[in-house]
Amino acid sequence: MYEIRNYHPSDLTALYRICLKTGNSGKDATDLHSDPEIIGHFYAAPYAVFEPELSFIAAIDNAPYGYIIGTKDSTAFRDKCEEEWFPVLRERYKMPAAEDTSHDAKIIRLIHAGLIVKDEVKDYPAHLHIDILPELQGQGIGRKLMDTFIAKLKELNVPAMHLEVGKSNLNAIQFYEKMGFHIIHEYEQSIAFGMKFED
Ligand SMILES: CC(C)(COP(=O)(O)OP(=O)(O)OC[C@H]1O[C@@H](n2cnc3c(N)ncnc32)[C@H](O)[C@@H]1OP(=O)(O)O)[C@@H](O)C(=O)NCCC(=O)NCCS
Repeated sequence: MYEIRNYHPSDLTALYRICLKTGNSGKDATDLHSDPEIIGHFYAAPYAVFEPELSFIAAIDNAPYGYIIGTKDSTAFRDKCEEEWFPVLRERYKMPAAEDTSHDAKIIRLIHAGLIVKDEVKDYPAHLHIDILPELQGQGIGRKLMDTFIAKLKELNVPAMHLEVGKSNLNAIQFYEKMGFHIIHEYEQSIAFGMKFED
């Protein structure tokens, strides 16, 4: 039986692994990347490191099988990452050549661009990422993680949250709609979903 618990620093490598195992529009991205850490450097680790109180783990026997991670204030989080997270990674992963279309290169370009808080989501200050390993999907754990995350945001008096999902990830889109998110904005390849909390 699984439990939902707070993040512990010893979970960090598992977060990198789960991020990679679900990083190809919800499917395993292991074969896409020659550097297995790169996707977690952008999508997982900074949240766990800088926002541990908003990082929750679905675990069996304390071993992580899924997570929800995020921030209550996307703008402040972006600034923190600019100061303390991305500079080291930009040294380590140089900007790829323009003709490099590899998946590693795509993530490295994101690392160099940094987090971008788009105008459309300004009224939704929190944002999140949720990923669960395939063997535990479809058992109500996503909903539990989401409920836990929302309860924490409400406790912190955060008024609203957003997330962005690729249009090819139809499973996640259906999940977010089921959770009560509404579409804030549709981009060419992705959708920004939002949720406002009642007072
Ligand atoms: C998307 C994800 C987080 C959903 O978590 P989950 O544990 O599988 O979802 P749950 O079992 O908690 O489902 C919650 C509700 O959403 C519905 N739902 C989930 N996936 C669905 C789908 N593909 N189609 C229709 N409904 C779906 C469930 O039926 C359930 O409804 P109910 O509570 O009324 O019965 C999980 O499948 C996952 O990690 N996928 C891979 C990674 C990923 O794509 N992450 C999102 C990146 S943006």
